[in-house]
Amino acid sequence: MGFDTIIVNGRIVTATDTSLADVALADGKIALIGKDLPRDNAARLIDARGRYGFPGGIDVHTHLDMPFGGTSSADDFETGTRAAAFGGTTTLIDFAIQYKGQTLRTAFDSWMQKASNKAVCDYSFHCIITDLAAAQLQEMNALVREGVSSFKLFMAYPGVFMLDDASIFKALRATSKNGALICMHAENGGAIDVIVQQALAEGKRAPKYHALTRPTTAEAEATSRAIALAEMAGAPLYIVHLSCNEALEKVREARDRGLPVYAETCPQYLYLSLENFDAPGFEGAKYVFTPPLREKWHQEKLWNGLKRDHLQVVSTDHCPFCFKDQKELGKDDFTKIPNGGPGVEHRMSLIYSGGVAKGRFSVNRFVELVSTTPAKLFGLYPRKGTIAVGSDADMVIFDPEREHTISAATHHMRVDYSMFEGIRVTGMPDVVLSRGRVIIENNAFLGRAGQGQFLKRSTYAVP
Ligand code: URP
Ligand code: ZN
Ligand code: ZN
Repeated sequence: MGFDTIIVNGRIVTATDTSLADVALADGKIALIGKDLPRDNAARLIDARGRYGFPGGIDVHTHLDMPFGGTSSADDFETGTRAAAFGGTTTLIDFAIQYKGQTLRTAFDSWMQKASNKAVCDYSFHCIITDLAAAQLQEMNALVREGVSSFKLFMAYPGVFMLDDASIFKALRATSKNGALICMHAENGGAIDVIVQQALAEGKRAPKYHALTRPTTAEAEATSRAIALAEMAGAPLYIVHLSCNEALEKVREARDRGLPVYAETCPQYLYLSLENFDAPGFEGAKYVFTPPLREKWHQEKLWNGLKRDHLQVVSTDHCPFCFKDQKELGKDDFTKIPNGGPGVEHRMSLIYSGGVAKGRFSVNRFVELVSTTPAKLFGLYPRKGTIAVGSDADMVIFDPEREHTISAATHHMRVDYSMFEGIRVTGMPDVVLSRGRVIIENNAFLGRAGQGQFLKRSTYAVP
């Protein structure tokens, strides 16, 4: 049998095993894994000696081409997926937003249109529900059948995205039957709004007040309430962008009780803190996203949560807005700063560097956090998220020794600053393959817009 490519001499890593093996690829799939496969059977050999072979990264939380606060996130599906690929991420799950009065189908169709001719790697969607009448409750089932098997609900942003508890409970009850997974933005939006209005009345308008008006207790309370609602509904629950120890404790307690509750955190909460708001002038706006940055001591609690499986996934919440003209919309009022930060490109290196290179957890746990569990929770496994015969040939040849200093001067995201400017990472992707095609090599992009495929996902399964 002839193969398109054989990756030879690499240390092949899955969530459970590390082995020195060759991986043969044919027709976009992993065809064979073995020791010393015959080299003359392949059109191309990739020598991965001294490097790891990881399954392609899966980022389950991005916002490409997303309207927010009078502007739109700066990366579209072409620039965002290309930047993701440079960082070793070969699958994204983005969010299709249903605006008030719309059908869920309208949201799905409109985000499919944004992505289909642009994505350079594979993608799927969660649907954000902001208006849940009886018709949309019914529609949830139809969307699940079309492969949109997760929904994001907001407990924050009153008047824009926030749903009341009754609607949240109804949605959870629906997912307990249709097999979808609710992704929850857990912050007490009502209480936060009162604190924000008071800050504005007191003339507190600088970027740091975005963080100071969103206390950790507001996140912990909403996390706890979401867990209670999910428990009453008999539904699984996934907490997005968890930022602080108080919320982590709520997830840990629920999991200790055996509830199917999961949570992700993001690199910004592991590397950045309130201290970033000391940046000169208006530069603190670069760190305005929600939930906000916390005191530095939370970082080690979150790393520990990743190690101990109190947290199951690292995503990025990539939602880039340029400093110039976009973040500047809030120059005189922090509530007008578009919420979000860029990160899709550096997730794999930041988590490898801080997690594996620093000795906090194993390389297998790393793969589990950035690829395997995301695939399992969101209905993509085993097509994605592992290196196994029959899986898509999404692979990353990763050099664990290569060092890199993150900078806006060299990154590929279409945004004029980096949240991680100057941070030095150990471990970088060298070669990235999407369904068998090399799309990144020698620091160059070799893919093309539109080659990414929409992924119809199956329903939630216990990971
Ligand atoms: O600030 C953020 N996180 N922006 C994106 C929207 C969200 O809540 O995830
Ligand atoms: Zn959110
Ligand atoms: Zn988000």
